[in-house]
Amino acid sequence: MTILLTMGYHDASAWRQALATVAPDQAVAVHGVDQYAPEAIRYACTWQPPRGLLKSLPNLEVIFNLGAGVDGVLSDPELPDVPIVRLVDPDLTGRMGEWVTLQVLNHHRGTLTYLARQRRREWKESDHPPAREVRVGLMGYGNLARHASMILRAIGYQVHGWSRTEKSADVRLYAGEDGIAPFLAATDILVVLLPLTADTRGIVDRQLIAGLATDGIGPILINAGRGGLQNEKDILDALRSGDLKGASLDVFNTEPLPQDSSLWAAPNLIITPHCAAVSEPMAVSRYVMGQLAAYERGEALANLVDRDLGY
Ligand code: NDP
Ligand code: OXD
Repeated sequence: MTILLTMGYHDASAWRQALATVAPDQAVAVHGVDQYAPEAIRYACTWQPPRGLLKSLPNLEVIFNLGAGVDGVLSDPELPDVPIVRLVDPDLTGRMGEWVTLQVLNHHRGTLTYLARQRRREWKESDHPPAREVRVGLMGYGNLARHASMILRAIGYQVHGWSRTEKSADVRLYAGEDGIAPFLAATDILVVLLPLTADTRGIVDRQLIAGLATDGIGPILINAGRGGLQNEKDILDALRSGDLKGASLDVFNTEPLPQDSSLWAAPNLIITPHCAAVSEPMAVSRYVMGQLAAYERGEALANLVDRDLGY
């Protein structure tokens, strides 16, 4: 039995090495590099697989998505009907918690303003309210957002969330279409950690920005979910007009962000290159091989994707 590894535009060599370290006896074929017999593949470890590739593997049993977001794999119109496991791992969750906290603090504590003053050799301070007066809204309250929420609350921020379904949570949780307006109205800093699905595509637009609170330090937008969630023209306009006081974007409609994108020069915008929470090969290989061993013992797979919901 061979595992097929396909990594989109990323280099697969670190992944091959990590899988070999975690499971030295396991045969691994890297798509596009190694020769392999399609019938020999029972498991595929994929990130944005080429369309149609997975359908061409007649004995495929499980797809392991090497990231948390599954929009890339689900966009394959010929996806075979086998379970898809997504990534839920403390290493990834921790990294996202770091990035979100950094961006919230950057905007709350005026990092961009101080960097600009430093370049001018200007010694001048600004007022910043304490964290307990700043309201952070987490849009999507899943694995990644819940961890970020814990760190932000430890700092002292007022945190609340928005999810698709109603449930009890460790913060005030708004849900569904009825919940979105009051959620936004209570939010100074919006952190988007939604999956990209048919329901969420384009949700971060002019109208959403207009719904955010204007009586605090915001509105500020932070998006590490997916670029397809955001209308980039609306965000650019809002930053230029001051309707958005600041933003941090890790994800974009086109990645890498094109050289000629106007976003590069947008005021009060922090851009990072889809690195908020990278999948670390050793951590992910342990996760995949652990699940695979459990599956082969006849146990249920964890963190399965609901194809109808798209996440
Ligand atoms: P989860 O599936 O654990 O959480 C998703 C959350 O979004 C849930 O709270 C869910 O609601 C909510 N949601 C989904 N659809 C809707 C909707 N239509 N309306 C309201 N809420 C909705 O995902 P993770 O936290 O693990 O990951 C979130 C996303 O982060 C990934 O899908 C990926 O796109 C992105 N990501 C980005 C990375 C980066 O480096 N930039 C790294 C890793 C992930 P409910 O609780 O009701 O199901
Ligand atoms: C993910 C990502 O979904 O890195 O894990 O974007």
